[in-house]
Amino acid sequence: MSAGLLYWAFLKSLFVLVILAPQIRPQVISNKLKESLEKNRVGNIIVTFKTRPSEALNRVADKFKTLKNRGERLHILSTELENDALKSQKTTLELLQSEKSITKFFSLWITNQISVRGASIDLVNKIGSLQDVLRVEECKAFTLPATNTNNSTMLPEDTYKKGQMRNKTSIGPTAWQYLQKMGVQGVWELGFVGKGILVGVIDTGVRGTHDALRDNYIGTKNYGWFDPENLSKYPFEYKYQFHGTNSIGAVVGNYGFGVAPSAKWMACKAVDKDNKWHEDWVVACLQFMVCPTDYQGNNKNCSKAPHVITNSWYYPSGEDDTVLRELTPVLAQSQLHFVFCAGNEGPGCGKVAPPGSYKEFIAVGAGDIQDKLMSYSSWGPGPDGIIKPEVICGGKGVLVVSPASDFSYSNSDGCSMATPLVAGVVALLLQKHPLLSPAEVKQILTSTATNITAFSDEECGGIPVTQIPNNQIGYGFVNALNAIHALPAS
Ligand SMILES: *[C@@H]1O[C@H](CO)[C@@H](O)[C@H](O)[C@H]1NC(C)=O
Ligand SMILES: *[C@@H]1O[C@H](CO)[C@@H](O)[C@H](O)[C@H]1NC(C)=O
Ligand SMILES: *[C@@H]1O[C@H](CO)[C@@H](O)[C@H](O)[C@H]1NC(C)=O
Ligand SMILES: *[C@@H]1O[C@H](CO)[C@@H](O)[C@H](O)[C@H]1NC(C)=O
Ligand SMILES: *[C@@H]1O[C@H](CO)[C@@H](O)[C@H](O)[C@H]1NC(C)=O
Ligand SMILES: *[C@@H]1O[C@H](CO)[C@@H](O)[C@H](O)[C@H]1NC(C)=O
Repeated sequence: MSAGLLYWAFLKSLFVLVILAPQIRPQVISNKLKESLEKNRVGNIIVTFKTRPSEALNRVADKFKTLKNRGERLHILSTELENDALKSQKTTLELLQSEKSITKFFSLWITNQISVRGASIDLVNKIGSLQDVLRVEECKAFTLPATNTNNSTMLPEDTYKKGQMRNKTSIGPTAWQYLQKMGVQGVWELGFVGKGILVGVIDTGVRGTHDALRDNYIGTKNYGWFDPENLSKYPFEYKYQFHGTNSIGAVVGNYGFGVAPSAKWMACKAVDKDNKWHEDWVVACLQFMVCPTDYQGNNKNCSKAPHVITNSWYYPSGEDDTVLRELTPVLAQSQLHFVFCAGNEGPGCGKVAPPGSYKEFIAVGAGDIQDKLMSYSSWGPGPDGIIKPEVICGGKGVLVVSPASDFSYSNSDGCSMATPLVAGVVALLLQKHPLLSPAEVKQILTSTATNITAFSDEECGGIPVTQIPNNQIGYGFVNALNAIHALPAS
C-alpha cells in the first residue's frame, strides 16, 4: 500500500471512528421512543433542533409592526425560519442522505424539525449525538374525530344530479337549514359570496372531481394540493374516508352546500388510510399553508397562501401538544385565519381540545338547528381560564358534499362540520374587508353570535351558563348576516 493510500485509509478510519463511536446523549432521546425502539427496533421519529422558531420571530418582530403586505410578510417569515433550519439541520441531513436503510425523511423549516420514517436504533443514537439536536421523539399519530357519516344516510344520487341545485329554490329546506339559520342567503344577496378568497383545508384530502367542488379547485399548478405521505399530484381521499370532502364542501361547495360558494379551495392531506392524522404531516401541511409549494414540495411562493384555513382535527385529551404550542406564535405572526374544532369530547368542564383551545385561535363547538348545544360539543375553559369555545355552529345532521361519488351528498355530525361552516363565514367577511386581522374577525364573530341553550346548567371556570359568554356555548351561534352588518364598508 502506498503512503498516500495509507494516509487516506487512516483519515477514513478517523472519519469512521467519529461516526461510529458517537457520544450518546440519552437525555435528548425521549423515554417513549426508547421503549418503543426496544420493542420494535425501528420507529418513525421526529428530530427537533436547538434553534427554536422564537429566534426568527424576534428578528422579524420590529419589521412586522409596519409591514402589511401579506405575501411579503410570509416570505420574510419563512425565509428567516428556513435559514435557521438549513444551518442547524445540515449535519443531520448529510447523515440521513448517507444512510442506505432510510426509506423516507423530510425537513420542516416551520418548526425546525426533521421527520424520519423507519429509523433504526443505531440511527437514532447517531442523530441523538449530534450537537444541534435538541430532542428525538416518536412521531405521533392520532385518530381523527369521528363524524356520523355513513352510507345509509347517503342521498340518492339523482336527487342532486348536476345542474339541479344551481337554482336555489330547488334545493329544498334540508340543504338550506343551517345556512338559512346563519343568515347566509342575506349575505349573498349583498354580493358577498367569498369571491377572491382562497380557503385551505388540512384533513383527509378531498374528492377533487366532485360536482360541487371541481370548479372551485384552485388547481395543482397553482399550488392547490400537497400530500406529504406520497407527493401525489391531484386531490384525492382514500376510499371510505369522507372527512375532508365534507369539510371543504361546507365552506365552498356549490349548489347551496357551502357558505362561500365563490371562494376557491386548496387542500393538504395529513391523514393516512386508517383515519390517523400524523403530527409531522400536520406540521408539513401548516407549513404548506403558510407558504405553499408545488405538489412535490418545491418552489415555494408565499403569495399563494390561502386566506382562511379550516381545521377539523385536534389532539385527543392528555396527549402531548408541545409541537403545536411551539408552532402557534409562528402561525399567529402569519396573520392567516385559522379556525379549529373545539372537540367532540363533551360534556364536562375543560375538555376543549388543543390547538383550538389556544387563545390565538377560534374554537368552534357543535349545536343543532333547534338552538341547542350538542352533548358531545367540548366545553372550556381553555388554558389559563380563557373562555372556550368562542362560538357554536351547525354540528348535527349537516347536509354535506360526500366523496362516495361525484354526485353524492350525505348528513354529517360533529365540530368537524361546525368548523368549516364558520371558516366559510370568515371567507365572506374577508371578501368585504380583505385586511381584517384574526383578532378582528374573532371580535366580529363573537359580538354578533346569537344565544343558544347550553347542554346543562353546570358552571365551568366560575362562569354560570346564564351569563354570555360561558364555557359551554361561548358567545353563541355564528350569524353571518349580523357579522357582515357589523363590518363597516371598506
Ligand atoms: C348511520 O346512519 C344511521 C341512520 O341515519 C344512524 O342512525 C347511525 O347512527 C349511523 N351510524 C354511524 C356509525 O354513523
Ligand atoms: C360503505 O359501503 C362500502 C361498500 O358497501 C363499505 O365497504 C364501507 O365500509 C361503507 N362505509 C361506511 C362508513 O359504512
Ligand atoms: C327555479 O325553480 C323554480 C321552481 O321550480 C322555477 O319556478 C324557476 O323558474 C327556476 N328558476 C330558474 C332561474 O331556473
Ligand atoms: C401512499 O404511500 C403508502 C405508503 O408507501 C402506500 O401504502 C399507499 O398505497 C400510497 N397511496 C397512494 C394513493 O399511492
Ligand atoms: C407567486 O405567486 C403569485 C400569486 O399567484 C404570482 O403572481 C407570482 O408570479 C408568483 N411568483 C413566482 C416567482 O412564481
Ligand atoms: C340564552 O338562552 C337560554 C335558553 O333559551 C336562556 O335560558 C338564557 O337566559 C339566555 N341567555 C341570555 C343572556 O339571554
